[in-house]
Amino acid sequence: MANPNHIAFILDGNGRWATRRGLPRNLGHKQGVKAIEKTLIALCELNIPYASFFAFSTDNWKRSEEEVSGLFNLAEEYFEKGVEFFNKYNIKVDFFGDRTPFSKKLQNIMKNVCDKTAQNTGLHAGFCINYGGREDILQAVNNLVSKGEKNITKDMISSNLYTKDYPNPDLVVRTSGEQRISNFMLWQMAYSELYFPKVLWPDFDKKHLIKSLKVFSKRKRRFGGY
Ligand code: FPP
Repeated sequence: MANPNHIAFILDGNGRWATRRGLPRNLGHKQGVKAIEKTLIALCELNIPYASFFAFSTDNWKRSEEEVSGLFNLAEEYFEKGVEFFNKYNIKVDFFGDRTPFSKKLQNIMKNVCDKTAQNTGLHAGFCINYGGREDILQAVNNLVSKGEKNITKDMISSNLYTKDYPNPDLVVRTSGEQRISNFMLWQMAYSELYFPKVLWPDFDKKHLIKSLKVFSKRKRRFGGY
């Protein structure tokens, strides 16, 4: 089967990667950002058109204040410095999730990286931050209700999701061996192929991506048919 059009990654295992080395969890996240960058380059080299990364879920606020603020500091630093990198690789950056609880500084950084990469024609990279699948469906429905829509169809919901400009993921890769969806793109994943490699996210690299493509190529997708 042809390569996936959209690969969605659930980045799992940063904490374990750090703990196994006797390091604070936030160093695992820092290494996780490096793995995102390596993966972005590999995705470009392999001509994958769309990728998304589950970086912070609506449930991750339950983590310690130290871990949460560490993650948001990392996001500020990464997306502020990242414009040059994204433009070098012709990557268009998008964000999925509710930005309203973020600092004004981070909101401005996010807007800036989107604006500055909007014309790029290569990989579309969607970062899911403060994202939840149920919350995505709910905001889509609320959008439609607020416009006075009554007979809501599946297409109307799809075109009001945060991810409306992306095709549904063909392949979802969750690292670290955990086999859960954890409130990721519930609507969009209805017919996605799932793959759960054991590698921890900070160790994910091009060879793991190629293996993921190989696994995907052997799947028989039937979409409910036969
Ligand atoms: C899951 O590992 C990972 C997260 C909850 C955060 C993922 C975030 C990053 C890779 C870095 C921040 C992203 C950007 C774009 C700046 P875990 O902490 O649940 O690992 P564990 O299950 O081993 O504890």
